[in-house]
Amino acid sequence: MKSLSENCKSLSGKKPIIIAIDGPAASGKSTTARLLAKRLGYLYLDTGAMYRALTWKVLKEGVDMRDKKSLAKLAKEIKIRLQSNDEMGSRVFLNGEEITFSIRSPQVNKYVSLVSMVKEVREEMVRRQREMGRKGGIVAEGRDIGTVVFPKALVKIFLTCSLEERVRRRWKEARERNSFLTKKEIKEELSRRDKLDREREFSPLRKAKDAIVLDNTFLSINETTERVLKIVKNSLQSINL
Ligand code: DC
Repeated sequence: MKSLSENCKSLSGKKPIIIAIDGPAASGKSTTARLLAKRLGYLYLDTGAMYRALTWKVLKEGVDMRDKKSLAKLAKEIKIRLQSNDEMGSRVFLNGEEITFSIRSPQVNKYVSLVSMVKEVREEMVRRQREMGRKGGIVAEGRDIGTVVFPKALVKIFLTCSLEERVRRRWKEARERNSFLTKKEIKEELSRRDKLDREREFSPLRKAKDAIVLDNTFLSINETTERVLKIVKNSLQSINL
């Protein structure tokens, strides 16, 4: 099997494409997408960070979560800047203020699915995401990338992973950050968010018809990235790009 760097070398010089990665919470999308983007010299787009940034602002302003008009207004008003960072994934700035860590708080986890359910909020975020992917050369990850944001993306991956393994990964990350959430609490939180994201009316979490499913329950992050890279390479070869 070719190594990751060999695979990457053979991709350089090809036309920049859009790579869409979707999947449930904690399925490894962010790290895989970030590593892949870095290897390909592509832009990494963490769309979840955009919904999280808005949710942080909604909480800060004390906006009523049921007031869709105000949520949509705020979505249009705020400036979100994402900056790729090796250690932190994306650094996130809202109206110039860094909120990279604040958007991962239990409060934001609790409300982000409610904010991202609102049709007008999604329309605004999707508009911004499409703008960022206009020229190609992007690895975007989220819930609706292959179905709604970039339905014509050349490569679509749907990452899955068992709930137990996702809980274990989040629990390990939490401990590294000195947060002592129990596995039970993490499991409840992930299950609740997945259910809301899957069952919402607009752009629910769903595999695009032409997406390739990759279950990474038993794969390391490097193995997952390598698999995705292989899929990218095969797709490019199949259409002679
Ligand atoms: O990827 P994440 O866990 O950081 O995403 C946080 C939430 O944002 C997720 O529970 C649902 C929402 N989201 C969305 O609705 N659409 C996306 N493309 C990305 C995230």
